[in-house]
This record gives sequence, structure tokens and C-alpha cells, in this order.
Amino acid sequence: MKMQHFPLLVFVLFITLVYLNGGNRTIEWDVIVFTQQWVLTYCHIFRLTNETHKCNLQTLLPEQYWKVHGIWPTKVGTMGPNDCKYVNFTIDRFNREGRHYLEKMWTHIDAKNTSEQLWKNEWMKHGSCSLEIEQLQDQYYYLAQGMAWWRDFQLYRILEEQGVLPGAEYPLGNITGAIKKTIGKEVDTRCYYDEHTKTVFLNEILICFDKNLTLINCDLMQKKKKLDCGKEWDMVTYPDVVPQLYYESGATGKLLSFVHLFLSVIVSWLFN
Ligand SMILES: *[C@@H]1O[C@H](CO)[C@@H](O)[C@H](O)[C@H]1NC(C)=O
Ligand SMILES: *[C@@H]1O[C@H](CO)[C@@H](O)[C@H](O)[C@H]1NC(C)=O
Ligand SMILES: *[C@@H]1O[C@H](CO)[C@@H](O)[C@H](O)[C@H]1NC(C)=O
Ligand SMILES: *[C@@H]1O[C@H](CO)[C@@H](O)[C@H](O)[C@H]1NC(C)=O
Ligand SMILES: *[C@@H]1O[C@H](CO)[C@@H](O)[C@H](O)[C@H]1NC(C)=O
Ligand SMILES: *[C@@H]1O[C@H](CO)[C@@H](O)[C@H](O)[C@H]1NC(C)=O
Repeated sequence: MKMQHFPLLVFVLFITLVYLNGGNRTIEWDVIVFTQQWVLTYCHIFRLTNETHKCNLQTLLPEQYWKVHGIWPTKVGTMGPNDCKYVNFTIDRFNREGRHYLEKMWTHIDAKNTSEQLWKNEWMKHGSCSLEIEQLQDQYYYLAQGMAWWRDFQLYRILEEQGVLPGAEYPLGNITGAIKKTIGKEVDTRCYYDEHTKTVFLNEILICFDKNLTLINCDLMQKKKKLDCGKEWDMVTYPDVVPQLYYESGATGKLLSFVHLFLSVIVSWLFN
């Protein structure tokens, strides 16, 4: 073989490998993550993306504010895999009562959207990656497992029993510690850092299972800055109302932001 053909050969080999691999996508993941979301924080995030957004909180009681987000097969250290295989979605096999129940625990935050869209999205994006797990083999199993876990892990009650109630801020360790005390395993958390108010809001609690759906310690090593809840001793806000948007805080808020602006101008003038 002539030496100048060597790079070409390597290239062809590389393309062939990529092609072969693509033909039979290997889907690797380590744990199943069951994620619940605190809707008051999620509504805040949703409204921050567009102030015209309306949240679907209607008649919910506070203890119903922890909602299923999804069941996610996850490779530790990453988010995903996602969209592993084309899968269908229909909820025809759930009767009215079943759908109603599902609606209560797995609600779409967007008042203009339907929860069915959320179930479909979660099933197609995440459920398509864990079909090999018997208890998640199709959309009915997938949604039913979400319901079962939501009943098993009632976060509002679990936290309340340990004195962690909405409407206050807590060291992160108090929140995770309260859950560990009840379920016996570590959970992972996701927060939302609100730049305007410099507040870390508790957003999601992630409970992990192995491939046998046995509860395990959860350490997903999330490193996304915006989702990070910080260290064990960092303070995390567990809101009891949807936080006001920073420009909505009324006359006092406007006065305060004016004073803040005024002071920052003075300070920058003094130090320049
Ligand atoms: C495709 O993946 C499956 C499951 O991992 C494996 O059993 C099968 O042998 C693979 N086929 C090819 C052609 O690599
Ligand atoms: C916010 O949403 C409204 C209605 O859905 C839309 O008309 C508007 O363009 C959106 N604004 C931004 C900044 O995305
Ligand atoms: C999707 O559903 C339709 C109608 O229910 C069915 O005909 C089709 O075979 C399904 N496709 C897959 C990939 O399951
Ligand atoms: C409705 O919700 C689904 C799932 O979250 C999303 O993919 C879709 O874009 C939403 N549709 C609209 C019109 O916002
Ligand atoms: C956090 O937990 C510590 C130790 O149990 C306790 O002393 C402290 O009062 C808790 N903080 C809050 C805000 O509940
Ligand atoms: C799941 O259970 C089977 C049979 O009980 C066992 O062989 C296997 O090691 C278990 N897998 C995990 C990940 O625990």
C-alpha cells in the first residue's frame, strides 16, 4: 500500500464504524431517575421565559404541588440518553378515571397546553430509552409507574414530617436529609437560580433506581450552573407562592430598585 493512501484508509474505516454504529445505536445508561417538580418554582421559570405565560395551578392544594416530571433512564454524569427509538403514543387504554388521576399528578404547567402533550413528550423522549425494563415496556407501564412512584414518594408529606415546609429557606442538607431519613437513600436536587433576586429556588427532586427498579443513592453529578442547588449548607428557598417577577413587586419594589440603581451609580462613580 502506498503511504499517501493511509489517511484515506483511516478516514474510510472511521466512516464505516460510525455508520455501523449508527445502524444499531447502542443505548447506554446506568440509572432510572424519577423526577418530581415543585410547580411554584417551575411556574416562576415558565413566566420568566415569557411574562404572558399562564400556569396551570387552578385548584391544586399545596400538598399537590409536587408533580411528576418524568422517568428518565440516565447515564451518570450526563443528561440522557434521549429519543432512542421511534415509539407511538396513545392513552386510549386509560379510562376517564385513570386520565383524571394522571392529570392530577403529572400536570403540564402551561395552561394553554395539555398534560397529554407532556406525557407523550416524556414517553417518546425518555421512555423510548428504557423499553428493555419490564415495568416500563410500553406507555401504559411507563405512566402507571409514574403514578405508583408518585404515591410511594409523597414529597410534600415527607418534607413536612421533618419540619421542612414551603414558605421558608433551608440549608440544602436539611431538605435532602429530611428525604433520606424517610426513604433511606440520597436524592439529587435541581434548583433554579434567579439572577434578579439572587435566590436559589428548589425546583426538582430526583430519586434513583437501578435497572431492577430498586431504590439507590442518587448522585447524577449534574454540573449545570443554573440547575445547581449548591453545597449542603447553602440556603435554598422552598416557595409557598409563585415568586413575583422582579418588576412586579409594586411601589416599594420600584422605590427599592430606584434606590439600588442610584446607589450603584454613586458607588461606581466613587470607585472609578
Ligand atoms: C445490536 O444491538 C443488540 C443489543 O445490544 C445486539 O444484541 C446485536 O447483536 C447488535 N447487532 C449488531 C449487528 O451489532
Ligand atoms: C410570549 O408569548 C406570546 C403569546 O404566546 C407571544 O405572542 C410572544 O411573542 C412571546 N414573547 C416572547 C418574547 O417570546
Ligand atoms: C403506531 O400506531 C399505529 C396506529 O395505532 C400503528 O398502525 C403503527 O403500527 C404503530 N407504529 C409503531 C412503530 O408502533
Ligand atoms: C406542549 O407541550 C409539549 C411538551 O412539553 C411541548 O413539546 C410542546 O411544544 C408544547 N406545545 C405548545 C404549543 O407550547
Ligand atoms: C436545619 O437542620 C439543623 C440540624 O437538624 C437544625 O438545627 C436547623 O434548625 C435546621 N434549619 C432549618 C431552617 O430548619
Ligand atoms: C437484578 O436482579 C437480578 C435477579 O434478581 C440480579 O441477578 C441482578 O444482579 C440485579 N441487577 C442489579 C443491577 O441489581
